[in-house]
Amino acid sequence: MARTQVAIIGAGPSGLLLSQLLHLHGVDSVVLERQNRAHVAGRIRAGVLEPGTVDLLLQAKVGERMLSERLIHDGFALGFAGKSFRVDLKGLTGDAVSVYGQTELTKDLTDARVEAGAKLLFEAGDVAIDGIDGAHPTVRYTHGGRSHELTCDFVAGCDGYHGVCRRSVPPAAMQNFERIYPFGWLGILADVPPVAHELIYSNHERGFALCSMRSLNRSRYYVQCGLDEKPEAWPDARFWDELRCRLPAPVAEAVTTGPSIEKSIAPLRSFVVEPLKFGRLFLVGDAAHIVPPTGAKGLNLAAADVRVLYQALVEYYRTGREELIERYSEQCLRRTWKAVRFSWWFTSLTHKFSDDPFNHRLQLAELDYLTGSAAALGSLAENYVGLPFEASAAAS
Ligand code: FAD
Ligand code: PHB
Repeated sequence: MARTQVAIIGAGPSGLLLSQLLHLHGVDSVVLERQNRAHVAGRIRAGVLEPGTVDLLLQAKVGERMLSERLIHDGFALGFAGKSFRVDLKGLTGDAVSVYGQTELTKDLTDARVEAGAKLLFEAGDVAIDGIDGAHPTVRYTHGGRSHELTCDFVAGCDGYHGVCRRSVPPAAMQNFERIYPFGWLGILADVPPVAHELIYSNHERGFALCSMRSLNRSRYYVQCGLDEKPEAWPDARFWDELRCRLPAPVAEAVTTGPSIEKSIAPLRSFVVEPLKFGRLFLVGDAAHIVPPTGAKGLNLAAADVRVLYQALVEYYRTGREELIERYSEQCLRRTWKAVRFSWWFTSLTHKFSDDPFNHRLQLAELDYLTGSAAALGSLAENYVGLPFEASAAAS
């Protein structure tokens, strides 16, 4: 039977980054991924990295291409009542965020892992976990048409919201917290220059819109849509018309349209499971929590979990001490709930929840207050760039 120190389920950003950081600190892992490499590399998802995530990628020695290709954003705009208001992140916090697509990040991480000769298995099927209450859990899976078994000291469940790890825990041992929003985001990717140098989050009585980007020639745009809508019902012309309608007029006039190269709908959800550790199984990233994308927190929270977990595991293998391991759940949940709160608040401020005009008036009043109050803007900005990390016995 094969053996490793840490069995990592899922080769999304969490699994790959954890495996890379453990490797750099001499801890062995095997990563099992259900999909093939092209599928994992092709998923279009997040785009904004907090400075703390950028630091972690540099620590993981996967930040070189990101440093040269990222776009640094010192602020973003809020659109409402026909106007735009710039939130000066740099001025308010001293920090900026980086725009670098999750697709690129996943590619950098995969390349680094493959180059280091990692045990990274794509198309690993039927993953099943046993013995998380004992000292040596086992992971069964199929690969290349054969069944395999892996023993390990720990299992890291980095397998996303629909993964197997969370479902392996007896329901009575955990508590789920969930809010489903009555809408989704319809997103398109198009090889046209972005409408502005920075992101624009727009509140409109027809619904929310977001102008984002992947590079100076590739734009990512979103409009709030109904949960039962299908991308096929949104030919490009309809999308561009709806987007422009929801933006302040000077912005709408400046939008460059073009054929979409990707179009998809994502539902919005807030979800947290507690705790995040069950015996020797840790839940990490989207396997443990989901936030609506409005605050761009999903990927950053996943990276924050990885930061805590790799330090705890390295400490354990260096010294045998389990204090950091035991604190994993509590430490990650504190940050998670603050990001859940922020993402919920920012979603509530910018999206259309009903046809009741009272709600829209309240949102406009809050936006008016927010943009006129240094204290309120400071709070928005410090959450957007990412709250500080709790000091811990960091692995160097
Ligand atoms: P994932 O990226 O979900 O990776 C999990 C991996 O586990 C996948 O590769 C999956 O194939 C694999 N896996 C699942 N089950 C198994 C199994 N049984 N066995 C083996 N492997 C398995 N965040 C933002 O900040 N901004 C955004 O705009 C944004 N847009 C998003 C759009 C969509 C459609 C989705 C789903 C998420 C979006 N997110 C966004 C969230 C962000 O992408 C996630 O927070 C981030 O991907 C989390 O990384 P992860 O590695 O924890 O999980
Ligand atoms: C994106 O570019 O996909 C993106 C940016 C900011 C968000 C959400 C998504 O808040």
